[in-house]
Amino acid sequence: MGQKYSVTVQETGLVFSCADDQAVLAAMIHAGFGPVNHGCCGGGCGVCRMRIVDGRWEAFKTMSRAHISEDDEKKGILLLCCVQPRSNLTVARIN
Ligand code: FES
Repeated sequence: MGQKYSVTVQETGLVFSCADDQAVLAAMIHAGFGPVNHGCCGGGCGVCRMRIVDGRWEAFKTMSRAHISEDDEKKGILLLCCVQPRSNLTVARIN
């Protein structure tokens, strides 16, 4: 297992740990308090669409442009099943 980072959920202040070789969504589900439903985990359904408001990340799977536009990506709006942390992160729900 690689380096571990903390991920904070902005709305609740809850914190969980995510390894740099783990999808943020998988870690959130494992921690048992993800604000998102369990979806396809493959970048296709859009259920895990959230915003990373702080921190560095890397996409290890292709995010469907049907769910994440280039503009979204610039704003940190991402599919959490497709990204891994490269620093501590803060994530937020998109309303
Ligand atoms: S869970 Fe389906 S796109 Fe992330």
